[in-house]
Amino acid sequence: MISSDELAALQLERLRWTLDHAYRNVALYREKFDAAGVHPADCKELADLARFPFTTKDDLRSCYPFGMFAVPREQVVRVHASSGTTGKPTVVGYTRRDIDTWAEVMARSLRAAGGRPGDIVHVAYGYGLFTGGLGAHYGAERLGCTVVPVSGGMTPRQVQLITDFRPDVIMVTPSYMLALLEEFEAQGLDPRATSLRIGVFGAEPWTEEMRAEIESAFGLDAVDIYGLSEVIGPGVAQECVETKDGLHVWEDHFYPEIVDADADGRGELVFTSLTKEAMPVIRYRTHDLTRLLPGTAMPAFRRMEKVRGRTDDMIILRGVNVFPTQIEEIVLRTPGLSPHFMIELSRPGRLDVMTVRVEASPGASAEALARTVKDTVGVTIAVELVEQGTLARSAGKLQRVVDFRDN
Ligand code: DLL
Repeated sequence: MISSDELAALQLERLRWTLDHAYRNVALYREKFDAAGVHPADCKELADLARFPFTTKDDLRSCYPFGMFAVPREQVVRVHASSGTTGKPTVVGYTRRDIDTWAEVMARSLRAAGGRPGDIVHVAYGYGLFTGGLGAHYGAERLGCTVVPVSGGMTPRQVQLITDFRPDVIMVTPSYMLALLEEFEAQGLDPRATSLRIGVFGAEPWTEEMRAEIESAFGLDAVDIYGLSEVIGPGVAQECVETKDGLHVWEDHFYPEIVDADADGRGELVFTSLTKEAMPVIRYRTHDLTRLLPGTAMPAFRRMEKVRGRTDDMIILRGVNVFPTQIEEIVLRTPGLSPHFMIELSRPGRLDVMTVRVEASPGASAEALARTVKDTVGVTIAVELVEQGTLARSAGKLQRVVDFRDN
């Protein structure tokens, strides 16, 4: 295991290479560095990174499709893209070595999650332009596992494959895991009787309450995996199964910073890639809210606290900040309510209204949910209880919030 000093030396060397590579080969970085009056040679220690400008999703969009590549296009062996909600997708590219690095960090992630060579790994993250499926796939192969590349969707068949192939590990979004749970129940199968030992869940925020829900429903260990396309895909940070106390960041490849931190150190996570060839990112603003903590199970690497939400997911309701994860925590603690809920925002008069529509068993109390949200979050919400199975299910990332306000 690498020591903190060794890690810092490696990071500095790689950071200097990255800044130079980006400056020399990507017009956008050259222009931004020049405008900010900084040059790669100004980076003499890790703290000097703070002098360099941030990169945003808009910067990436302005270079659509291939303008962020730092190598000739012929050396890019793969592209992925994230759709985004508006406008053009964000395109990312990988050299052969980048694909290799990605497989390496994903294999590490899977090992930290408790996966072992020889395990059967059911990958239900989507394959395609989304990085989840292929990222998990290459990592599991690299670790020496037998990969079942199912992708998302066709839920009854997923249940059949889990029953027949007896996988040890499942990699899937937590929201789709809930859909699989329902399908087990619909088929009259006991989800606790599966062979699954570990679930590696990410691509969307999820709470400790959701962990408890999934772990007890399936009788497995649920751990968190984090990543984003712009930085590489899944495998940027991983929670260790022994501690389940936040995610160790693979800092030898991805350098984290927190900006605009509050008094507790929570703020926006920013990443600089340290080894990426095709598409280096310098101080990329993720919009994800978390804080950095010292390493535990892997002492050299800092941990990031479970992501509570994105700056752009934060709902400001009559002056109070609300994250969908806060609602998730309370829904899951309220008797009779299922984990399937949606948040609808509307503006019927002059004031914004938040309606939580949640699937409930007969006899559950809408009032109990509204009261707890009022008492703990401080906002008044409307609650609508609906029958089980009436809300839309996702086969990948779940979109929890529907906004009908015209801003
Ligand atoms: O979601 C990569 C991924 C795939 C991660 C599979 C984990 C598992 P994007 O589609 O680019 O990439 O979306 C990245 O998803 O900025 C976060 O807002 C959110 N996100 C990803 N992992 C987590 C997590 C993939 N564990 C965006 N907790 C990120 C909370 C997450 N949010």
